[in-house]
Amino acid sequence: MAIFNLNINGTSKQVDVDPSTPMLWVLRDHLDLVGTKFGCGIAQCGACTIHLDGNAVRSCQLPVSAGEGASITTIEGLSEKGDHPVQQAWLEHDVPQCGYCQAGQIMSAAALLAANPNPSDTDIDNAMNGNICRCGTYTRIKAAIKTAAQKL
Ligand code: FES
Ligand code: FES
Repeated sequence: MAIFNLNINGTSKQVDVDPSTPMLWVLRDHLDLVGTKFGCGIAQCGACTIHLDGNAVRSCQLPVSAGEGASITTIEGLSEKGDHPVQQAWLEHDVPQCGYCQAGQIMSAAALLAANPNPSDTDIDNAMNGNICRCGTYTRIKAAIKTAAQKL
């Protein structure tokens, strides 16, 4: 076990865990940030996507030790009132079905638009490629990303 000081959603947090513990479990089990979901555990589904210094990363494969000194954002910290332009667009397009994948989808979309405010269809496909939705909401996700781009 070791102590890690983390900056999560703009707040300093301290956890005492094994250095190899995936960030996903630190968030969910130690910090009660359960918006980030476990899907596959092997970086193949995107349900666990968070931002590490603004980049979309899979928290199931990110050891807690890699988070020290970085700025980490989870779905809980994307906006104060759930009104990030991506979240607004998601509501407008009524994107979620079961919702399980959606935090990861939104975090990937937000990272894409922060880096590329006017993405092409190919840019969107490439950025969202690793986020799986078993409910098949892909068409609405793409439309919502385009709406969010206009809002931004
Ligand atoms: S749970 Fe991390 S990519 Fe699936
Ligand atoms: S909304 Fe159900 S898995 Fe995506």
